[in-house]
Amino acid sequence: MIRRKIRQLAVRAARWLLKPLLRRGMAVMRPTEDSRRALASLVASLPCAKPMTMVEIGSYRGESAQEFLNTGRIARIYCVDPWRMFYDADDGTSYTDMAQVERDFDWRHGGDSRVVKVKGTVDTFIKRHPDAQVDFAYVDGCHTYEAVSHDLKQLMAHSRPAVAIGGHDYNLDGVVRAVGEVLGKPDAVFPDNSWVKFLLRGGANMI
Ligand SMILES: C[S@@+](CC[C@H](N)C(=O)[O-])C[C@H]1O[C@@H](n2cnc3c(N)ncnc32)[C@H](O)[C@@H]1O
Repeated sequence: MIRRKIRQLAVRAARWLLKPLLRRGMAVMRPTEDSRRALASLVASLPCAKPMTMVEIGSYRGESAQEFLNTGRIARIYCVDPWRMFYDADDGTSYTDMAQVERDFDWRHGGDSRVVKVKGTVDTFIKRHPDAQVDFAYVDGCHTYEAVSHDLKQLMAHSRPAVAIGGHDYNLDGVVRAVGEVLGKPDAVFPDNSWVKFLLRGGANMI
């Protein structure tokens, strides 16, 4: 009886320790052509004639950053991510091996001068790059109501994106609530649940 209990505990502990490795192969963020095309459609909708500077909150392996860059309309992207595990108990991604994820990000974007890696949160970004002239911000970090609300409020108060703000997972209650409270209804929602709100000031319809 005691031996069985010990064996059960050992199996549970091993599963917990192996969780990052078990999840490793599952955390592909943009697995389908449609999910990649949605980001291209989002960028195509942005009313901006010049090459844009953007910030992405939550970059993971850098797949969405790659899609943004592939549009040819992004001159610079700040990729913000703490690359630390267990940030949200309800999000499977947070159990993946973040050291490996960060290495993947570095491998993908390390040699690209358009990519500025910021290891930390939105607060780190604002502190380190207070003069960044952001045209577009994309929020895809921690998806709890509190975290999304914080990211949006900080970006709107300090980075003041000139063209638009958007993000991912507009199918999650916390995201919908935070976006609604901080910005109101999005102007568009895309098939991958990305959303966008245009912010052009002074009646301009293009910059
Ligand atoms: C869903 S993944 C991002 C996926 C990525 N945008 C893509 O589509 O390829 C969420 C990421 O947010 C990061 N993250 C968690 N908490 C964060 C926070 N407070 N600020 C910024 N990023 C955070 C995680 O480390 C994780 O890499």
